[in-house]
Amino acid sequence: MSRQKKLDKMEVIELAAERPKPEFFFRNARAAGKVIFETEDLVIGYDQGRPLSKPINLRMERGEKIAIVGTNGIGKTTFLKSVLGLIKPLSGKAKLGDYLYPGYFEQEMGASENSCIEEIWETFPAFSQYEVRSALAKCGLTTKHIESKVKVLSGGEQAKVRLCKLLNVETNVLLLDEPTNHLDVDAKEELKRALQEYKGAILLVCHEPEFYEQVADQIWNMEEYSLLQ
Ligand SMILES: Nc1ncnc2c1ncn2[C@@H]1O[C@H](COP(=O)(O)OP(=O)(O)OP(=O)(O)O)[C@@H](O)[C@H]1O
Ligand SMILES: [Mg+2]
Repeated sequence: MSRQKKLDKMEVIELAAERPKPEFFFRNARAAGKVIFETEDLVIGYDQGRPLSKPINLRMERGEKIAIVGTNGIGKTTFLKSVLGLIKPLSGKAKLGDYLYPGYFEQEMGASENSCIEEIWETFPAFSQYEVRSALAKCGLTTKHIESKVKVLSGGEQAKVRLCKLLNVETNVLLLDEPTNHLDVDAKEELKRALQEYKGAILLVCHEPEFYEQVADQIWNMEEYSLLQ
């Protein structure tokens, strides 16, 4: 009887821990310079390919929260990568400002062979095992998921692992490429709240007006710069 009672108790604890609520809190780095980035007649595209855009002249300043919208394939991801210097412009320039601590959430990423614990530990080697587990749990992942390989997790669970990395570095500008894509309602609401509270600048690619309209104060429509139509 007493053993059964103990077991019953254990199960309750286990169940309570099985539905962790996501709690997202971004960490702020020192303030960035006034200009986050500026493009000068930036034409985006890929090697030898035809240009995806007309010359783009846009400027983002410290503290601004901007949504980038436009249909599939218009060049939103390519624009973010070009701004970050991950893709060379076909012509023109994208100049990054001073004292930037960027946090980049990629739209698509190959999933790693690592377990979630290894994945976070690789990024934050100074964390204790407890800190790694609690950082992942705060992103809404269960113990079972935390101990699994990243590649076997669902799209939403993998997004939470990637958000976990972003939440635990100090940033002053977030470049988020469709961060809500696989997220459930709770995680999406919590992410919206965290982004509203975030002190840095945000460049957010998103297809969901109910999300970006409550986060961003400006909207850039990439279709205006597209050569594709
Ligand atoms: N590595 C690449 N090499 C050549 N072309 C590419 C490459 N990546 C993307 N493209 C092409 O460039 C165009 C713009 O792609 P991009 O990923 O920037 O669109 P997007 O606006 O982000 O679309 P989505 O809303 O679907 O994410 C598309 O036509 C795409 O097929
Ligand atoms: Mg994209």
